[in-house]
Amino acid sequence: MSDVLIDRSDAVLTITLNRLEKKNSITVAMYTAMADALNSAATDDATRVVVLQGHETIFSAGNDIGDFMNPPAVTSDPPAAFRFLHAISTFPKPLLASVCGPAVGIGTTMLFHCDLVYAGDNAAFSMPFVNLGLCPEAASSYLAPKLMGYGRAAEALLLGEPFLAEAALEMGFISRIVPPSEAAALAQRQARKLAVKPLSSLIETKRLMKKGQVAIVAERMAEEGASFGRLLREPAAQQAFGAFMQKHSAPKS
Ligand code: COA
Repeated sequence: MSDVLIDRSDAVLTITLNRLEKKNSITVAMYTAMADALNSAATDDATRVVVLQGHETIFSAGNDIGDFMNPPAVTSDPPAAFRFLHAISTFPKPLLASVCGPAVGIGTTMLFHCDLVYAGDNAAFSMPFVNLGLCPEAASSYLAPKLMGYGRAAEALLLGEPFLAEAALEMGFISRIVPPSEAAALAQRQARKLAVKPLSSLIETKRLMKKGQVAIVAERMAEEGASFGRLLREPAAQQAFGAFMQKHSAPKS
């Protein structure tokens, strides 16, 4: 079974993270699959709305740590994660997410680019970049302070402290909290409501709502990407990844 499932029903395309045995951590192949799906959906007349989802117990443990330990050589081609971030941050049609359980790193930052996020009451968001010797990505260094206020963003980004669904709702980061077993169905219901509305109006409304931040987000994402790529190769990050891998390769008692 593929690590990313892509399914279209009526005009709603659903992208499901499906690597449960590794807590839906995201590999290069998964970023590529998601970027390709979003890029096709952006221009495909048959798709009017996209929903991203994980599992009732976990949205995503973020970037695959093994991949972080072996970053790709620097070439003129953007890394797969950046292709995905570009696709999600510029996606013109409505984008929804259903999030339950932990949403770590890019598992949280990708949600800054979704229009409607429905969370299970077990959702826990975290951006532990500093703890891993890294820095924010997905323009989260701009979007988190804007959304949460600087103080709460500093707790989330400098200290790497998680925040729960209630706090996320209060900040306006998510749209609604429901029992985990209901989150995916709610996202699908809302997606279907959007899918029958005039698409040009939806696209124009989203464009206007995001207009003030498009250039800033693109510029910030490029700057973060350069810093992230540098920090990824430094000893602090490689030691943190090594410690994670060692802990998880230890025999389970
Ligand atoms: N990359 C690669 N593998 C990961 C992973 C990641 N980001 N997160 C979890 N896994 C793997 C573990 O190695 C483990 O694999 P194994 O069974 O082969 O040993 C499996 O998923 C289960 O993980 P585990 O930590 O035992 O699950 P948990 O339920 O106790 O905790 C999390 C879940 C998400 C809280 C925890 O896995 C975690 O913190 N992961 C790392 C998150 C992270 O730092 N991501 C990078 C952000 S920039």
